[in-house]
Amino acid sequence: MVRSIQTIFQEFIEKKTLIFKDRNALTSDFTPDNIPHRDKEINTMASILAPSLKGGKPSNIFIYGMTGTGKTLVTKYVCSELERMSNQGTNQVKIIYINCKMKKTADTEYRLLAELSRILGQEVPITGLPTEQVYKIFFNVLDSTNWVVIIILDEIDSLVVKMGDDFLYNFTRINGELKKAKVSIIGITNDLHFIDILDPRVKSSLSEEELLFPPYNAIELQDILKQRVLLGLNPNIISEEVIPKCAALAAQEHGDARRALDLLRVAGEISERQNELKITEKHVDFALEKIDYDRIMESVKSLPKQTKSLLWSVIGLEEKGEKDIQTGDIYNTYEETCKQCALHPLTQRRVSDLISELDMMGIINARVISLGRYGRTREINMNTSPKIKDKMKEILKSGLMI
Ligand SMILES: Nc1ncnc2c1ncn2[C@@H]1O[C@H](COP(=O)(O)OP(=O)(O)O)[C@@H](O)[C@H]1O
Ligand SMILES: [Mg+2]
Repeated sequence: MVRSIQTIFQEFIEKKTLIFKDRNALTSDFTPDNIPHRDKEINTMASILAPSLKGGKPSNIFIYGMTGTGKTLVTKYVCSELERMSNQGTNQVKIIYINCKMKKTADTEYRLLAELSRILGQEVPITGLPTEQVYKIFFNVLDSTNWVVIIILDEIDSLVVKMGDDFLYNFTRINGELKKAKVSIIGITNDLHFIDILDPRVKSSLSEEELLFPPYNAIELQDILKQRVLLGLNPNIISEEVIPKCAALAAQEHGDARRALDLLRVAGEISERQNELKITEKHVDFALEKIDYDRIMESVKSLPKQTKSLLWSVIGLEEKGEKDIQTGDIYNTYEETCKQCALHPLTQRRVSDLISELDMMGIINARVISLGRYGRTREINMNTSPKIKDKMKEILKSGLMI
């Protein structure tokens, strides 16, 4: 007999979970009260921002480091403490946090300015006005009082991709026009090379102060995990090798605390689904496989059609038994694939760029080899299991409609 979905939900609510006390504490959205191993960064940021409590304009700060090194967490923490302190006293500091990756709030200059105005207390219609007018509205509400507004632009690289340098250039110079208010900008990026591609004028004003967040080592990651385990898991539920293992795997990647937390949480979910009483090393192994699988599938799904067509060609060649495929070999097959799915083939040079992109995403393995006096080429291999490859093919097939 089919159980009604009400029964399923009811059973879920009533079922005592053995593993999790508070699953939320092991997700990356959770904000812990305690931030180990970031004292130096917290103190530096606090000292740079402190003058705002007396009405001074703090330097703009440029924060960079690999993903999962605590940039967003630390910045939000320091800024919320600053705002709290200000609320107890002069009420002078206003913090605005924007994640530039969010489509709704930061896809165009219009949307971003509208969002900033809204946060400062002035609604703007979602569309319809000339951008210049939205800028004026923003400017007026910004300069309506004597406050210090600190604008955090997280994942600022995607802002520049969408709007170019000009927007930031004007934005970092806004203080020259303001009469009452003062603005400081905190730009955060996971992209270590981002600053090099910026216009030098934007670069110098954005990075009046620079703060690098180094990767965590395995021991530091263990401390971070231990703290979350106390909040998130029931006591005595993990075997002792689990935390060191999650920490070591994440340290190998690039000292990414998010990955360490994901591994632990997913390991917990797997053991719960299997109705086991403890999280063990075996569950971490499964978790690693599942996370990587999900990640690759997500990236394959979101590839542009041309890149999908190229990947399809690589898989096709490999399935014909070809090993160490060279760049030149792929091009013909790729042209064929394009014909099949009504795409206009790109030039060989562009295809070569796409190969590098796929390589960087970890979907294929493209090794540069020397052909002696004939120059250089790349040898391409898929570095995936048959299971992943089959799933990839399914996604590509429906994406390319072939
Ligand atoms: N020092 C730390 N202590 C506790 N949790 C941390 C620490 N550093 C990072 N985290 C956690 O790791 C995850 C990723 O951190 P986040 O600040 O988003 O990284 P980034 O912005 O550098 O990519 C978040 O869940 C965060 O709470
Ligand atoms: Mg972040």
